[in-house]
Amino acid sequence: MKHFIDINNFKKKDIDQIITIAKKIKKNPKKYSSFCKDKTLGLIFEKQSLRTRLSFNVGMQKLGGSVLELQSKDIGFDNRREKAEDVLNVLSQYIDCIMIRNNNHKQIENLSKENILPIINGLTDYSHPCQILGDFLTLQENFKNYKNLSIVWIGDYNNVLRSLIHLQNIYNFKLNVVVPNQIFKHYKNEFLRLKNNNLKYFTDPIEGVKKSNCIMTDVWVSMGEKNNKTKYFKNFTVNKKIMSNASNNAIFMHCLPAKRGKEVTSDVLDGKNSVVLKQAKNRMYIQQAILIYVLKK
Ligand code: CP
Ligand code: NVA
Repeated sequence: MKHFIDINNFKKKDIDQIITIAKKIKKNPKKYSSFCKDKTLGLIFEKQSLRTRLSFNVGMQKLGGSVLELQSKDIGFDNRREKAEDVLNVLSQYIDCIMIRNNNHKQIENLSKENILPIINGLTDYSHPCQILGDFLTLQENFKNYKNLSIVWIGDYNNVLRSLIHLQNIYNFKLNVVVPNQIFKHYKNEFLRLKNNNLKYFTDPIEGVKKSNCIMTDVWVSMGEKNNKTKYFKNFTVNKKIMSNASNNAIFMHCLPAKRGKEVTSDVLDGKNSVVLKQAKNRMYIQQAILIYVLKK
């Protein structure tokens, strides 16, 4: 049984395969219009979602499949009425695959080991692999030679960054991670475990952004986080000055939703080098490719 929990569970050839399928669907969507005929995808969101919800829902329908959005509380997925494994066992009698967004990465990791039903990670407190694969597609569309890319992440050490680092560990592109020192200290051991010659850590955004072709950021406080860390992010707002210190024509990326004036200024978010809406659109082709990959026997 195939699951899609984290990018670092995969080999380069698997990721290449998913990206190739996404590119093919984007080029010729009609050809794929019955790839998931008679298949049903369940969606469980324990946190808010616009892009992931819509891209999975519309994406699955465009593949000829159907979608059920299940409320965690209503179906008793919260371990109160019965165990989550028992819920999955029953779900597996009706549906073919489940996407889960929750605040408990360990739960979906453990459930995937039971091999009851293919599970897709639609974001957890730990990672956001679907987002980063979609972003990898966007990067490949923007840069012919994406192997020589130099990316900078400016912001929090969070789920999206973690999936980006997992991708970097496979493809070995240059990645500068610029995180406030107070936050980095907390994740230092994890970072050192994942570090390599092309993965570097900075605390100064202007220094970290030099020679980069792509600047990525995300909210400073993620969904479900209680600690208001915004005080650590002085000078971390991606603005025109930071953009001007990158390479010529560097692109700006953000998974969205964005807090305007916090992690990014509106002129950058809406500017000509911003590809945020393209990222949102590409989420759909990637979700479709992930579904095909996971559901294929
Ligand atoms: N980028 C992303 O996952 O957006 P949503 O939280 O709206 O799904
Ligand atoms: N890091 C953000 C990503 C949202 C798509 C969060 O978890 O809230």
